[in-house]
Amino acid sequence: MHFYLKTYGCQMNVYDSVRIKNLLAPLDYSETGDMAEADLILFNTCTVREKAKHKFLSELGRLKENKEKNQDLIIGVGGCVAQEEGERLLKKAPHLDLVFGVDQIDRLPALIEQIKAQKERLVLTAFDTDPKLSLSYLQGHKSSVSSYVTVMMGCDKHCSFCIVPFTRGREKSRSPREILQEIELMVQKGTKEVTLLGQNVNSYRCQDVRFPELLGLVSQIDGLKRIRFTSPHPQDFCNGMIACYAALPNLCRHLHLPVQSGNNDVLKKMFRFYSIEHYKERIDALRQRVTGIAITTDIIVGFPGETVSQYEDTLNLLREIRYDSIYSFKYSPRTGTKASKKYQDDIPEVEKERRLSQLQSLQDAISLEINQAQVGQSVEALVEKISKKGHLQGRTDTNKLVHFPGDSSLIGCFTEVEIKQAFPHSFLGKINKGRPISFENGPAAQIDKIR
Ligand code: 5AD
Ligand code: SF4
Repeated sequence: MHFYLKTYGCQMNVYDSVRIKNLLAPLDYSETGDMAEADLILFNTCTVREKAKHKFLSELGRLKENKEKNQDLIIGVGGCVAQEEGERLLKKAPHLDLVFGVDQIDRLPALIEQIKAQKERLVLTAFDTDPKLSLSYLQGHKSSVSSYVTVMMGCDKHCSFCIVPFTRGREKSRSPREILQEIELMVQKGTKEVTLLGQNVNSYRCQDVRFPELLGLVSQIDGLKRIRFTSPHPQDFCNGMIACYAALPNLCRHLHLPVQSGNNDVLKKMFRFYSIEHYKERIDALRQRVTGIAITTDIIVGFPGETVSQYEDTLNLLREIRYDSIYSFKYSPRTGTKASKKYQDDIPEVEKERRLSQLQSLQDAISLEINQAQVGQSVEALVEKISKKGHLQGRTDTNKLVHFPGDSSLIGCFTEVEIKQAFPHSFLGKINKGRPISFENGPAAQIDKIR
């Protein structure tokens, strides 16, 4: 028997999908990339923007035929659409068997058995009422070179545009013990880099351990070469976080700090309780302590009532901060959120498009300038995979993609690469012959020796 799993959305969904695969491993299913041959089809969904949700719903609708052909096929929907829609999904898709919420993943094997035995249709979307977050973690699973680890889930900030508090619930943190055990297991199985995940990651708190302390604990794991985290909130980006960058050698020189808008009045309407002045001060303080740190952000254009001049404040912020890259989105009203109740989605679609494309062109030019300044330099890349074009694909600690010719045996290794060409979103390079790298048990150790 085969299962097919499709993942939409953020890194937390990618992590949850690894957990799902792990939980399915003892069952009688092996994974297939071909939906047509699957006996179990699962979707791990995202609803952060309307478009993502609609794309998924139309894909789900098309599965009606698969079910007509094979009555034993089990179709399940998990993740944020499941959490948001619950029971309604069963009505929308009469061929759907299972709706499982974000806190129900660990029960998946039992739910599948129940559906098989009793031919029931099940909806389980209750949030776990335990104030602590506890997750089944990776056991016996082959780890990737770079792995995600959820450390907290949910959000208490209630930004007015955001559906996450409805789909992921209140903030809950996982115990440091569970987190450290999971990462140690991952490292034993080949992980060199972890990204700690949470919708509001720097709100992490478990008893006396706050996020900077957690970073300190994780950084001591033997064999863990790189640590990243996403996404922090500017309001809680304290000096302790900046101190971590200065003190922890394996904390990567990259900060993704979502700003959303460059205008204080828009930020207020977004329920983002920091000012642009505070945001810029935090970035300045960080840049002073950590040379070469890459800064990235999230931006929303076309928030209700955003004037051209308020939007231009965002353009100016991009010029001032000179982000390494950004993720940018057109505002999309989400049912139940404060913004959708209080404000009319009054910026016409064409104007949202215009703002988004102008913003992205500006950012592409800035990213290209920043990247071009690195041509001729050598960078250390952790090799992750073979790219579509057949090159090796690695990442610098500043989270920039580097493509270069080389052998697949280098996957999982640190390699010195000379940058030959820069693009807005990546580099093209060649392995630095002057610095041969050994490939046994992680060449980082060798690089240390060379230095
Ligand atoms: N419309 C557009 N973009 C949104 N985001 C979150 N909610 C919305 C929305 N309703 C963006 C924010 C957030 C990123 C993950 O998605 O920029 O940081
Ligand atoms: Fe999408 Fe947000 Fe859910 Fe992630 S947490 S899957 S971004 S809605």
